[in-house]
Amino acid sequence: MSQKCLILGANGQIGTELVIALRAKHGVNQVIASDVKPNNAPEQEGPFIQLDALDESALRAVVVREKIDAVYLMAAMLSATGEQHPDLAWSLNMNTLFHVLRLAKDGLISRIFWPSSIAVFGPSSPKENTPQLGVMEPSTVYGISKLSGEMWCQYYHQKYGVDVRSLRYPGLISHKSAPGGGTTDYAVTIFYEALATGHFDCYLSSDAALPMMYMDDAIAATLALMDAPATKAKPGVAYNLSAMSFSPEALAEEIKKHLPEFTISYAPDARQKIADSWPKSIDDSWARKDWGWKPQYDLSQMVSTMLAHLK
Ligand code: SER
Repeated sequence: MSQKCLILGANGQIGTELVIALRAKHGVNQVIASDVKPNNAPEQEGPFIQLDALDESALRAVVVREKIDAVYLMAAMLSATGEQHPDLAWSLNMNTLFHVLRLAKDGLISRIFWPSSIAVFGPSSPKENTPQLGVMEPSTVYGISKLSGEMWCQYYHQKYGVDVRSLRYPGLISHKSAPGGGTTDYAVTIFYEALATGHFDCYLSSDAALPMMYMDDAIAATLALMDAPATKAKPGVAYNLSAMSFSPEALAEEIKKHLPEFTISYAPDARQKIADSWPKSIDDSWARKDWGWKPQYDLSQMVSTMLAHLK
């Protein structure tokens, strides 16, 4: 089914690649990229609108004018920046979601994609193979906004029939657009530093294992979830999603297989506490069972692919 899509936050780490993938699937002019900042992704050839998702009337005007069917809300403030600006993080992450949920409730769009995160889990959640359901007591503003958002998505689905699809992304590793303000960003920066200087000073401890995923898998999961019938990919459910799990030390060892001179040092900062509060690995059996999720990239494939692209 060809849909007219609007991507909010198209300049970001996920938005950049999502726009390219959606255009390949639905056609260039069927996908409107938008961001609060001017277009910074020249590889995204096609329509772009500068738009602040916090401006509800401007957003509505674009959706009506462009006859949008599906909105992908990728604008957000991530975990580490959120701790610096808690009020702003809450306002951006929640208000943009309400704006998009109301578009669907009012019948202006038929489907929403809204990303959740492993940050919905907290220090009291199980650390290994963290299940879909269970104790969720997030300790970051970002995590609180994502868990609250999940509850609102569920509410809008149950009460108003809104078709909102969601994934709890792990840390995402990519080379087309840099991440910003997350706790898992080190797993991207390390590649740039390894190639530029041969050394990386890591802000997490050597053993801080976290769930991670290569961007191609994250994009494939997003497209599959949005394509699947609602009987399989259940609206209102934010699915756990998993591919690999590694510590900074394990990632450095894998990089050394390609760059034997590479060295790493550790100077944990405030982000260590955030990492400590999150799961080390994720049980994504619901996604596998409901809509056939299966990742392609493990640690060694991810590392060789990243290095091949960045060299
Ligand atoms: N990658 C995100 C972060 O580190 C987690 O969703 O904030």
